[in-house]
Amino acid sequence: MSYPYQIKTLAQYHQVYRESIENPSKFWLDIARHFKWRKQPETTSEVLTWNFEQPLIEWFKGCKLNITENCIDRHLEHDANTPALIWEPNDPEEHQRILTYKELHFKVCQFAHVLKNNGVKKGDRICIYMGMVPELAIAVLASARIGAIHSVVFGGFSAQSIADRLIDAQAEFIITQDGAYRGNKEIPLKSVIDDALLQCSFVKRVIVLTHNRMPVSMIKGRDVWWENEIKKVETQGNPDFPAEEMDAEDPLFILYTSGSTGKPKGVVHTCGGYMVYTNYTFVNVFQYQKGEIHFCTADIGWITGHSYIVYGPLSAGATSLMFEGIPTWPDAGRFWDIVDKYRVNILYTAPTALRSLMAFGNGPLQGKELTSLRVLGTVGEPINEEAWHWYHEKIGKGKCPIVDTWWQTETGGIMISNLAGVTPHKPAHATYPLPGIQPILVDENGHVIAGTDASTGEWPKEVVNGNLCVKFPWPGMLRTTFGDHERCRLNYFSTYQEMYFTGDGCFRDKDGNYRITGRVDDVLNVSGHRIGTAEVENAINMYTDVVESAVVGYPHDIKGQGIYAFVILQQTSENQDLTRQDILQTVTRLIGAIAKPDKIQFVSGLPKTRSGKIMRRILRKIAENEIQHLGDTTTLLDPGIVDEIVKGRL
Ligand code: WTA
Repeated sequence: MSYPYQIKTLAQYHQVYRESIENPSKFWLDIARHFKWRKQPETTSEVLTWNFEQPLIEWFKGCKLNITENCIDRHLEHDANTPALIWEPNDPEEHQRILTYKELHFKVCQFAHVLKNNGVKKGDRICIYMGMVPELAIAVLASARIGAIHSVVFGGFSAQSIADRLIDAQAEFIITQDGAYRGNKEIPLKSVIDDALLQCSFVKRVIVLTHNRMPVSMIKGRDVWWENEIKKVETQGNPDFPAEEMDAEDPLFILYTSGSTGKPKGVVHTCGGYMVYTNYTFVNVFQYQKGEIHFCTADIGWITGHSYIVYGPLSAGATSLMFEGIPTWPDAGRFWDIVDKYRVNILYTAPTALRSLMAFGNGPLQGKELTSLRVLGTVGEPINEEAWHWYHEKIGKGKCPIVDTWWQTETGGIMISNLAGVTPHKPAHATYPLPGIQPILVDENGHVIAGTDASTGEWPKEVVNGNLCVKFPWPGMLRTTFGDHERCRLNYFSTYQEMYFTGDGCFRDKDGNYRITGRVDDVLNVSGHRIGTAEVENAINMYTDVVESAVVGYPHDIKGQGIYAFVILQQTSENQDLTRQDILQTVTRLIGAIAKPDKIQFVSGLPKTRSGKIMRRILRKIAENEIQHLGDTTTLLDPGIVDEIVKGRL
């Protein structure tokens, strides 16, 4: 399989970018032709219908396909014996598993039968709560094959978080496993599901894979073992499972993500556009070459795993490496061992992982070859220059381009990034928008910043700074938030008229390189994980003794951002440390350990305006230790509170 839409030179990039703006429908139609459709888009009029007011976004509507025929079946002719998935277990002593495209086809069909036998139908929601085992990818693909809508929940979320998501999605089916390995820990996944299900009696079936075989409860009539269900399919004979025909605009999955208000929202992606977009971005950004090994270290519980472990690579017939464990176990050389063991060509990871590995010094790099690497990538948060150079020199030996890929759960795939070895990289910059993507920068009042409208086709000359929006749709963008379209409109399409607002602040240099500076809303990015301050505050406020709290981010050497909580207690605690532990436990129960504040400062009040609004700007400055720059505090209800908070700063 070759990729005729793979851009090969800088000049070609500029030309293709221009064409993509002049005639977007033609641009995307030409790419979409290279997929396996049951009914293929033939004319530009079938490509796109849109307006951002509602919003209404439809790509290839009326065209038919099943994404798994693109990720699996179409490779069977020439690549049946090419490895599709390589699985490296948590324990390096254990055997790896390799699934060729043929084997993956067999397993996905088998499990699609299991889903059918258990009553799953097209359009049903399936919650998948698993560790990083091959069966997670198989479950995702089987769900897509049968036309169900998967909602993968990251294994670090608590029972309460799962219950919230199950209820929101009205998911009647769950796929999980007894327990997962993570370094030297075992995570009891099924038992967390059991707790979640105390609130969700509508769940009809839980399919449980055995992995670490820790004891689990199994409820008659509701819970079944994965392996037993497979045995039943084996006795049924014919293992093939014809893929369900889907409209391009039928939902493929829901993925919950944090916003600045309330509970996480279920971002909805659809079959056709998401397929075209993840494939196009995978092939171009990483410049994938047939036969290469692609190692994305993300968890499939996040969008990065969906797009660049499963759908992007597999739709391109690539070999995707999936790792169960963590970068620091049994030691901090684990990633590098994996790179050498499989001769990995493309490594795609998060800045937070790089910073944590950097902190171990050069020791873990001793004796590692790393000669197979051709392309390095980062995702999920801004990368600082120090980490960028370390990655470039120590890991890439100065030879590998680094793609700094900016995108979001909502965008489905990479939006702004250099193309490896084709367009130049620049430390700490995501660089250029991909062809097809029209960024635009606006100021706080919604005015477009002069010279930043990509659709004018003019190349930038000035340094500018603003809020990052996108003014034209792309196939991978979210269509709605599950069950609440108005929330989607309010969150993304109402801040600025006729634009998708990303929530990110952005700087662009005179050469047109974009540098994303971080969120301008109340969303934190902790170790590359998105967490809403409101979500954390709601959890803290659930603790019996808490009156009120305010949560802000502060710079953290390893995590990028840490969580700083200012908390008012009903009465002063006699044992502050214990109260802190209690609060952390409460947050862990309600959200998950990833949302635990790094610092909790007890205060007697919060800086509020006369109308009662918390002045987060001031709290942020205090948390960042920028106390010289608190700005005007005279408009506060009680200016004295600021001094008290500054004195008690942790
Ligand atoms: C941030 C992850 C700087 C950004 C794919 C965005 C980045 C949020 C980068 C989305 C990058 C992602 N440089 N910041 N290369 N990539 N971000 O939904 O703030 O988990 O809005 O998607 O991560 O996080 P999400």
